[in-house]
Amino acid sequence: MAFDGDLGRSLTTTGGTIMSFMEETQAAIAPARLVRGDETWAQVMNDVAEWAFGGRPHDPRMPPTWGVDFSRVYGVEVDEPGGPVLAAVSSAWSFDIPVPGGRVPAGGLTWVSVRPGYRRRGFLRAMIAAHFQDCAERGEPMSMLCAAELPLYGRFGYGVASQSVSVRIPSGAALRPIPAADAVHVHFDTATFADHDALVQDVRKQAGRSRAARPGWTELVTIGAREQRLTNTDTHLRETERLRVAVARRDGRPTGFALFRRDGKVQANMTESVTAVEEFVATDPASAHALWQSLIGMDLTAAVTVDNEPLDGWLFSLLLNWRAAKPLVCDAIHTRLIDLPAALAARRYAAPVDLVLEVTDPLLPTNTGTWRLHGNRDHAEVTAAPGARPDIVGDIAAFSAAYLGGTGLAVLEDAGQIRETTPDALELLDTALHSYRAPALATDF
Ligand SMILES: CC(C)(COP(=O)(O)OP(=O)(O)OC[C@H]1O[C@@H](n2cnc3c(N)ncnc32)[C@H](O)[C@@H]1OP(=O)(O)O)[C@@H](O)C(=O)NCCC(=O)NCCS
Repeated sequence: MAFDGDLGRSLTTTGGTIMSFMEETQAAIAPARLVRGDETWAQVMNDVAEWAFGGRPHDPRMPPTWGVDFSRVYGVEVDEPGGPVLAAVSSAWSFDIPVPGGRVPAGGLTWVSVRPGYRRRGFLRAMIAAHFQDCAERGEPMSMLCAAELPLYGRFGYGVASQSVSVRIPSGAALRPIPAADAVHVHFDTATFADHDALVQDVRKQAGRSRAARPGWTELVTIGAREQRLTNTDTHLRETERLRVAVARRDGRPTGFALFRRDGKVQANMTESVTAVEEFVATDPASAHALWQSLIGMDLTAAVTVDNEPLDGWLFSLLLNWRAAKPLVCDAIHTRLIDLPAALAARRYAAPVDLVLEVTDPLLPTNTGTWRLHGNRDHAEVTAAPGARPDIVGDIAAFSAAYLGGTGLAVLEDAGQIRETTPDALELLDTALHSYRAPALATDF
């Protein structure tokens, strides 16, 4: 798993000089420059992000950058007549995520923002190069992100590793009965950091480490991020009630929770109130049933909404008529292998696999080459195999998309991103990569 931090040389040439991705992107933005951030950037980072994303102003009583890990903040500075301007920022979370058969450290790229007026000058590209370098130096063989726009990140070698579903469940919708749900008790409360942080963090951890853990399951990694999740801002309170929590317990032990807010809307004496679930975590199907039942059965609400449900989430096993919930599918986790051999060796395989993979990675050429993957349910090994005849040939985005075991190789083959040179090799690798449960995010970031 160790990575020596040397991302090697890219084949890109500028004026005859061979440059790394990092060098190339920095040269391309000159005289603007890539700079590292620190705590003093809190206000200006928030300003750049507000310009980038629009929306309501930040509540001035709240810290501007909840929980951001300043050791991972980068920006691009531009000299203007009035002095230097911070034109772009990005940060990352240090995740430790489940993958099939193990756990892997991963850099979660976030806060990617470029001020209008400074776009399409290569600032995002420069920050991505810095992020890749940062992940490599920290020994993270993988980067992941949630994309504001789907087409943005493929050019940097990211692939879509999971899909999520948004639903609007009509109030009172019927659930398939689960007898074990009767032993689960649900209690409602107003959510506060002081009262609920330890509890929700404990349930998140249980869910991310149980047999039913999903690859890619992110936990909130800083106290600031956890605090933000359990805090009401002015913006929230202008639109909804305070943050509420439903806690599921079995024999007194917490086994799930849902964080939600209702908007209390009434039109012509008819309730149109929607319960928006912001985070839903259950450690077993019976707890999920008890929580959904208590939310869907709440009086004076028209519907319950939730985003980020996995395609094979328990909600869809339980809802008898899930078509009525108008499911809408979206891309969720985007992954990018920074150190392909280390990442492939860090997971386990659902079926025995012994194949030679030829990988192309124009940005991080240490991944480019021919690798022998030998693995099964208990063991995996990846060795360089220069000169060996490949069974499968593909680009880094394809291997990145398939890594968590939720994106089938057929889709990537059909898109021309991966191909086999040995008959049935793709089907064999697909079976080996498959994850029993689809990858999913605990929360987007
Ligand atoms: C999206 C954003 C970060 C791009 O930053 P940028 O500095 O303009 O991007 P770059 O100049 O480095 O462009 C890199 C590549 O992405 C492409 N690109 C940039 N923005 C794009 C967009 N919105 N849609 C499609 N492609 C885009 C560029 O054309 C360029 O392509 P190339 O590699 O083929 O030359 C910036 O426009 C922004 O802040 N948008 C609003 C906030 C946002 O969406 N953030 C992303 C959160 S995940």
